[in-house]
Amino acid sequence: MAKVEIAVIQGELKGLLLVFLRPQCVLFGRAADATIRITDDPFVSRHHFLLEVSPPFVLLSDLGSKNGVFVNDTRYGSREPGAGNERNGPVPPKSVFLANGDRVVVGQNRLVVNIMETENRALPVRRKTSAKWNLPFTGVPSTAMGELSSETLIGPYHLGQEIGRGWMGAVYQAIDTRSGVLVAVKTMVPNVVFSDEAAESFLANARRFLGFEHPSVCGLIDIRRTGNIFTSVQEFVDGFDLFRFLALRGGKLNLEEAIPIMLDVLAGLSAEDQKFHRNLKPQNILVSGQGKWIRAKISDFGLYRAMEISGLTQMILSGLYADSVCYWPRERITFFEQAFAPSEVFSAAAVFYEMLTGFLPREGLRELKNESRRTGSIPGLAEFLRVIAERKPTPILERNPEIPKRVAEVIDKALSEPIIRRGQEIPEPILSTARYRDAETFREALLEAVEFHGIAPKKTEADFSEGFEAPGEKIDAALLVVDLEGSTQLVNKNGTHFFTEIVNSFHSLFQNHESRKELRFLKCTGDGFFAIYRQANEALQAARAVIAEAKRNDVQVRVAMNFGKITIASDGDFLGREVHKLFRIEGLKNSDRVSDTPVSFPTHGRILVTRSFAEKAAGKFLDIGLFRLKGFEEPCEVLLFCEQ
Ligand SMILES: Nc1ncnc2c1ncn2[C@@H]1O[C@H](COP(=O)(O)OP(=O)(O)OP(=O)(O)O)[C@@H](O)[C@H]1O
Ligand SMILES: [Mg+2]
Repeated sequence: MAKVEIAVIQGELKGLLLVFLRPQCVLFGRAADATIRITDDPFVSRHHFLLEVSPPFVLLSDLGSKNGVFVNDTRYGSREPGAGNERNGPVPPKSVFLANGDRVVVGQNRLVVNIMETENRALPVRRKTSAKWNLPFTGVPSTAMGELSSETLIGPYHLGQEIGRGWMGAVYQAIDTRSGVLVAVKTMVPNVVFSDEAAESFLANARRFLGFEHPSVCGLIDIRRTGNIFTSVQEFVDGFDLFRFLALRGGKLNLEEAIPIMLDVLAGLSAEDQKFHRNLKPQNILVSGQGKWIRAKISDFGLYRAMEISGLTQMILSGLYADSVCYWPRERITFFEQAFAPSEVFSAAAVFYEMLTGFLPREGLRELKNESRRTGSIPGLAEFLRVIAERKPTPILERNPEIPKRVAEVIDKALSEPIIRRGQEIPEPILSTARYRDAETFREALLEAVEFHGIAPKKTEADFSEGFEAPGEKIDAALLVVDLEGSTQLVNKNGTHFFTEIVNSFHSLFQNHESRKELRFLKCTGDGFFAIYRQANEALQAARAVIAEAKRNDVQVRVAMNFGKITIASDGDFLGREVHKLFRIEGLKNSDRVSDTPVSFPTHGRILVTRSFAEKAAGKFLDIGLFRLKGFEEPCEVLLFCEQ
């Protein structure tokens, strides 16, 4: 077993000794909730540095402090004038893995790190992080994590295709060979060296959830260990996780659609005695349409908590952060070792916030995620803490003014971040007062607000008549494609930045236009957009707005529209002949005409539609003839939308 000790040997906290046997975070600074809180040293910043301890590893990260941190006389981080300019050499690195005996100095304060390993393993050495997959741990290659081939038999479960992948492994569809029931088998590879004892503790803690049934919880059917891999068998949900469902719906949901999901999630969180999920995020909320019902179930209930209790969660440079930490309240880092019910309230509210606005509650988090995706690096907890320390959640009405006031108040309250004075105050009652005590109380408040505004949560099957379709299902829809004409030339001429701004302006147009309520799906195609609407008239309104926006921005666009049957793919995208046809019509030229209709049409700023679309939409359309579409044998009748 490994142990880490941090001893303060000089400064106002001289004599303090912190001992860690399991993962922990240590915040050093003047902040009220800092673990090592300094009050009278002008060299210490509020959030000075963070230690991510995962015995025997300790990662020190400067949190953008003014003066930086010295480890054995080498400086890490700092905002000091002159540091990191040409004359003074490169910017000091921000993070370093500490080694046994390292001395950490900030102002008057001196800390010594002692690392002990009792299992005859080598102690870690001090080294700078390279920010990428620089894992000093088990060395399990990330791509091979938990990968099993289909047709494998795990106990009585016969694995089929992979249906998803998370930070610890993969999820497969499987059949219970005894009953023929479809299940989901999830593999988990903890990225720590673990003892049999820890593994047993994990299994025992997770098994407490076996057989637990609740309509809003994805039931745990079995849990096993094979060598380094744990497998959990859960109820299979035929639908999408909320992350993909949101993408499918154009990034956010309207309130009517979101309410049943929110109420289900909170009912699920209220269900278990302990009420701790600890890993709530859109990926762990599974949305399905039973008939036309939208139902949400929480997956992985109990698993993360069981890992945490058994010390199996690897805290340093863990892929977990990229998804989950965006939904964490501040105290998940500053009071890392403790679990509070109001922290679950915050995480649920953060998911709801994103669902209703298309934004994460805190500014800066999405940028951090995008940056990590772009560079392939894994942000550490310290980077998240820097955002959390600087930015409180933005009030929800600033992101979406259409949310009814009482509902907005409830969500903002659930996202409150009170200051907790470490050592003087007990966190739980403070968090409970600032937010809601638990998911149940949050649910009651939300329900009351919804009813106050006269929005009846949809309860019966008939209420969901326009509802939800499963993968493979065919639906009738209005399809729209926008091409930013000559987008490559646009980038070459005006630069990527200009192009990004243009794309963003069109994107927010789709998101905020009144046609949005009928928007079913939206994605950027690289040189434009592909959108799906339930109704042709709303799609046409959006197309007209696109043409107006193009004029305003002085860019050229081509729009094509179609109406017909399309199939929902399992990743939430849409497939089918009508989609292909749409993309062919977008680039149509006069020379593609097969009929001898003498009407010509513009090369850009145009909306071309099929006959089936024109029949569904209220507008004036001019028949421009029959056209040959590449890949289609029969010619297609195309019409031009004419502004009155
Ligand atoms: N019971 C299930 N039924 C259907 N699909 C599932 C089920 N469980 C998971 N999935 C799918 O598999 C994906 C990967 O799940 P997994 O739990 O491995 O990753 P994650 O949720 O992103 O991360 P974490 O390990 O933190 O929960 C999910 O996002 C979801 O789409
Ligand atoms: Mg999951």
